[in-house]
Amino acid sequence: MATPRPLFIPVLLGTPRQGRMSKYVARFVLGELSKRDAIETTLIDIRTLAVPITDAGEALKDPHFSAMIMRADALVLVVPEYNRGYPGLLKHVLDTNLKEYIHKAVGICGVSAGGFGGTRVIENLLPVMRELGLLTIFWDGNFSAVQNLFDAHGMLVDPAYLKRTDKFIKELVWMAQTLRYGRENIPREQ
Ligand SMILES: Cc1cc2nc3c(=O)[nH]c(=O)nc-3n(C[C@H](O)[C@H](O)[C@H](O)COP(=O)(O)O)c2cc1C
Repeated sequence: MATPRPLFIPVLLGTPRQGRMSKYVARFVLGELSKRDAIETTLIDIRTLAVPITDAGEALKDPHFSAMIMRADALVLVVPEYNRGYPGLLKHVLDTNLKEYIHKAVGICGVSAGGFGGTRVIENLLPVMRELGLLTIFWDGNFSAVQNLFDAHGMLVDPAYLKRTDKFIKELVWMAQTLRYGRENIPREQ
């Protein structure tokens, strides 16, 4: 039997903030995804996207970003909690695509300085995901007290996150495979 083509699952680092700790979470999750032969991944740093702020929505598409989302089977969003919400730039950037997201899986990693692991920002993102046509999985990444989670070299110091992230990725892969099958094999009635 032919080897199935790998799932493409980019990781979107959702904050441009100077000194962002979410960078370490994004690199860690990227590393865990990269360990799997059945997954191709890449880091999309929101800082690098060419999205002006003089308008909103699909008029502002960054062609490279849109092409990556179009090719993706699933997304991982790494999202810090800012006053219980998500960074405004993340919403602005997400709003530049629409058809690119339809019937694709999304897993969210919440990042917080506090003890709730970004659960509140994740809850606030769920209705946005639904409106975009992304399908959320029922497992999240919750990176609490992120300032204590990585050493000076950016290496994870709490091994408990390895098992949790493995579970998160397994669920995301299942959803991504299922939705890819559906997109490619099950016609939608018009
Ligand atoms: C504007 C702003 C608001 C924040 N609000 C919260 C919050 O509501 N809850 C929390 O646990 N941490 C909050 N934090 C701390 C961030 O969660 C913390 O900086 C963490 O490292 C993740 O964000 P980062 O990737 O920007 O570093 C806030 C940080 C900023 C800059």
